[in-house]
Amino acid sequence: MTDNHDDGAAALVHAAATAGHAPSIHNTQPWRWHVRPGTLDLHAERDRQLGVTDPDGRLLTISCGTALHHALVALAAEGWAATVDRFPDGNPDHLARITLTGPQPVTAEAVRHAQTIQLRHTDRRPVTDTPVEAAALDAIAKTAAEYGVNCHYLRPDQVVELASVASRAQAAEGLDDDWRAELAIWAGAALGAGIPDVGAAGRPAGTGVPADVVPETAPQTTVPGRDFGQPGTLPIDAGHDLAASYAILYGREDGPDDWLRAGEALSAAWLTATELGVSVVPMSAAVEIDVTRAELRRLLAGIGYPYLALRLGIPDPDHAGPPHTPRLPAEQTITFDEP
Ligand SMILES: Cc1cc2nc3c(=O)[nH]c(=O)nc-3n(C[C@H](O)[C@H](O)[C@H](O)COP(=O)(O)O)c2cc1C
Repeated sequence: MTDNHDDGAAALVHAAATAGHAPSIHNTQPWRWHVRPGTLDLHAERDRQLGVTDPDGRLLTISCGTALHHALVALAAEGWAATVDRFPDGNPDHLARITLTGPQPVTAEAVRHAQTIQLRHTDRRPVTDTPVEAAALDAIAKTAAEYGVNCHYLRPDQVVELASVASRAQAAEGLDDDWRAELAIWAGAALGAGIPDVGAAGRPAGTGVPADVVPETAPQTTVPGRDFGQPGTLPIDAGHDLAASYAILYGREDGPDDWLRAGEALSAAWLTATELGVSVVPMSAAVEIDVTRAELRRLLAGIGYPYLALRLGIPDPDHAGPPHTPRLPAEQTITFDEP
């Protein structure tokens, strides 16, 4: 824990570094933090936006929302109260400003959430035959609702519909040469190249989805998981994840402010799920394409705009899950005022 008697500078730097553990689309970590006395600013890093997959920056903004929530969790665990202004000055790349308001008591819950940040990860193996208990699903949805984001659990007939929408989205993406080239840069052995300022691997060191978190064969799932274009090396069993639950995170509007909150809700709900022993896999293919995103909206009977689909389940307790994915060094995501 940092010293509460300072002006919070150390806690702000620690919060920005902790936010680096947040999940992001293809592990692009599309954020930059700027530290000033008493404030921490979150900026979108457009150099790491997926120009083909995510031209509007919706997944970038959701990803930055997860980092924002992680930073606030870290501050609470360090005993700092803070306020958040989202889009504080009308600049679309200045996503949020965190302002410290003073010391506050550290709760056991805050410490637990901060510890969970280190444990959370994406486990794409098939889930076990044990269904997630209703109480856990309720707790996860309740957590998302605290951020104004709804979590709709799909009925079996809706799961079949999601499967069809997701596979059509992936088929459409797979036909697009530019899309395949972009994916090849960010996933697996990074066979692609061509984005500026990248290392020999074709993407900045410390980013991307490495082969060891991608299943070695396509898992048997009701809703197809992301096809990363090349098989990975993560061993999986032959199980079919029939006991998985599927959800759609959605809200009333569909603008950058809503995507940011969706990311905060995703982070909060994912930490709650992790604490309850529930694995979460975001599935964004269906929201990446306008036509299939509209179909997801119809699946919600028009009650809101879909941000992300999620698979939830109980992970295999007997075999090690995937390792943690790499992260950019903090020096590349945190800047300071010139002295
Ligand atoms: C907005 C968003 C969309 C994502 N979409 C997918 C997806 O469609 N399929 C998938 O397997 N993982 C998806 N992920 C998970 C990321 O690939 C993962 O968070 C990232 O590689 C970092 O790994 P970690 O979660 O294990 O830390 C998504 C994550 C976010 C935040």
